[in-house]
Amino acid sequence: MMWKWLGALLLFPVQMVYLVVKAAVCLVLPPKLRDLSQENVLVTGGGRGIGRHLAREFARRGARKIILWGRTEKCLKETTEEIRLMGTECHYFICDVGNREEVYRQAKAVREKVGDITILVNNAAVVHGKSLMDSDDDALLKSQHINTLGQFWTTKAFLPRMLELQNGHIVCLNSVLALSAIPGAIDYCTSKASSFAFMESLTLGLLDCPGVNATTVLPFHTSTEMFQGMRIRFPSLFPPLKPETVARRTVEAVQTNQAFLLLPWTMHVLVILKRPPHSGTLRPVGSVCSHQLMFENHSPPGST
Ligand SMILES: NC(=O)c1ccc[n+]([C@@H]2O[C@H](COP(=O)([O-])OP(=O)(O)OC[C@H]3O[C@@H](n4cnc5c(N)ncnc54)[C@H](OP(=O)(O)O)[C@@H]3O)[C@@H](O)[C@H]2O)c1
Repeated sequence: MMWKWLGALLLFPVQMVYLVVKAAVCLVLPPKLRDLSQENVLVTGGGRGIGRHLAREFARRGARKIILWGRTEKCLKETTEEIRLMGTECHYFICDVGNREEVYRQAKAVREKVGDITILVNNAAVVHGKSLMDSDDDALLKSQHINTLGQFWTTKAFLPRMLELQNGHIVCLNSVLALSAIPGAIDYCTSKASSFAFMESLTLGLLDCPGVNATTVLPFHTSTEMFQGMRIRFPSLFPPLKPETVARRTVEAVQTNQAFLLLPWTMHVLVILKRPPHSGTLRPVGSVCSHQLMFENHSPPGST
């Protein structure tokens, strides 16, 4: 018993050195990209916005089949046609991810019509964009149903088969607002913080599941319809991201199996400002600092 402990104690520094050297080598060498040619990718909210760019990026990088989910047939159809023109098999299904029965029904339809999903991208979301007291109760509920619970249902629908195949990846398009909330979008910030906890828990749980991984992407303000009209302090210091950049970095993160990705990298300042408190006052101070640094009070137009 004592020898076992002694062995473990001696091995620990060796393992630490190995991990540090491995991390340093990985930093220098270009990362090995996962081949997507056998992967069937489902993107929720894939008809427009970042979702459409994600569909294009997965197709461009050789994914086998792309499946789009959303509520608006017109944009789903347009994106499907565009992806087919790129030479990739693409299908769309009308599905409101906030509706649990519909998610399970359409997941079954996808399996029967297209096959197993090996990469699930939880991208669909809405923002009501008001303060708590100005918000309609149903609109508050809707954001939680779509942005947070929707991921419970889609993940429950597709994860079991990924575990059986020992091949799968769950991706979540989250937001920096999960880490640093702003006033005037209380529904959205709450749903994204909750979704972040969901992904953290899922990612840790998957550490014991060979071949199945997770990626959470936390982008800053991105120029799509979602936050049109949002005012940023110092816009030249914090310009909005392009949706194509978010899509490209997301697919790269999947291909390199990165668990968490903050976009742009300067957002790491938020993480530092919002480090867990040593005293009771540090956390609120961190929130206020990051808010004062970047965001004006705003009310996005909302897309609910
Ligand atoms: N734009 C930003 O500044 C920003 C920043 C950080 C993170 N993000 C995140 O990135 C993701 C994509 O945002 P975006 O900027 O592309 O927003 P967007 O342009 O408003 O697009 C939202 C997408 O979600 C779909 N959707 C909404 N409700 C749905 C539902 N109940 N069921 C199925 N699909 C639904 C929409 O399609 P239908 O309307 O057809 O259903 C649409 O395709 C979101 O998770 C968002 O939170 C965005």
